[in-house]
Amino acid sequence: MSRIVFLNGSFLPIEEARVPFMDRGFLFGDGVYEGIGVLDGRLVDNEAHLERLERSLAEVRIPNPYSPAEWTALEEEIVRRNGMTEGFIYFQVTRGVAERDFFFPEDAKPTVAMFTQAKTIADAPAARTGIAVVTVPDLRWARRDVKSINLLAQVLAKQAAKEAGAQEAWMVEDGYVTEGGSSSAFIVTTGGSIVVRPLSQAILPGITRKSLLRLSQEDGIPLEERRFTVEEAHGAAEAFLTSASNFVLPVVSIDGRPVGEGKPGPITRRLRELYLQMARAPASLAAE
Ligand SMILES: Cc1ncc(COP(=O)(O)O)c(C=O)c1O
Repeated sequence: MSRIVFLNGSFLPIEEARVPFMDRGFLFGDGVYEGIGVLDGRLVDNEAHLERLERSLAEVRIPNPYSPAEWTALEEEIVRRNGMTEGFIYFQVTRGVAERDFFFPEDAKPTVAMFTQAKTIADAPAARTGIAVVTVPDLRWARRDVKSINLLAQVLAKQAAKEAGAQEAWMVEDGYVTEGGSSSAFIVTTGGSIVVRPLSQAILPGITRKSLLRLSQEDGIPLEERRFTVEEAHGAAEAFLTSASNFVLPVVSIDGRPVGEGKPGPITRRLRELYLQMARAPASLAAE
C-alpha cells in the first residue's frame, strides 16, 4: 500500500504530493507545525495539540484553515488511510505560496501538509533501557513557545548528540537546561520531587508535559516547577523526557555520567505507566 499524505485539501500517494517552489515554508521557514501521538489507533491528547496549533498560528498571524473538528476528521482519516495503529501524525501550516518577499503576501492561502509515521511507542526498547542525553548550548530564537518549523538549531543540537553517542540533546541557556531538541526535560531530586522548567517564551509548552504534570499531581508525586542547572541534572536521582512521539522516556546518562543508578528509576517508570494508561484506548475500543 502506498503511503498516503494530505496536501491542501486532498489525500494522495506521497509520490504525487508536490509543494510549489515559492512556498514560504521552503523559502523562509514561515510556518508552524504540530505532532500528535497515536496509540491503539486513537489520537492522544489531540484537543490540547489543536489548541497549541491555534495559538502558534495566531502568534505568527497565519489564519487557521480548519476548525478543531475539521482537523480531527483529517487526522482520523489519514490514520485510517495508512492503517496506522501506533505512531505519529505530523502536520504543518505555512503562510503559503508567493513571490519571495519578506512582507506578508496579500492573497496567499496557507499550505497544509500532513503525514503519518508508524512507530512503536508503548513497547519501545528505549523505554526499557533508557536513553543517553548530552547538553549543548541553546542556539534558538527568543519565541520558543511558538512551534515554528524553523528547526535548524534543533537539527544541529540533535546531530551533535548523535555524534556523541546519545539519543537526545538537552539545550542549555545561562547554565540552566531549557528543554530537549524535540522533548521536554525533567529531573527527579534525591528527595523524590519532579523538577521541570516553568512555561515561558524560553520553551515549547509541551502537551505531554502538561498531561504528565496533571497525572503526577493526581498520583501525589511532589512537583517543583523551577529551572534546574546542568550540575543539578548530573546529580539527579532520575531524569526523563516527554514528547508526543515517545510519551515518557527515561534518561539514564547525561554527558556520559550515569543518572542515579544508570537505569530507569521508579518514579519515571510509574509516570510512564500512568501516561500509557491514559493514552490507551479502553479495552472495548482497542478490540474494534
Ligand atoms: C522543542 C520541543 N520541546 C518539547 C517538545 C514536546 O512537546 P509535546 O509533548 O507537545 O510533543 C517538543 C516536541 O516536538 C519540542 O520540539
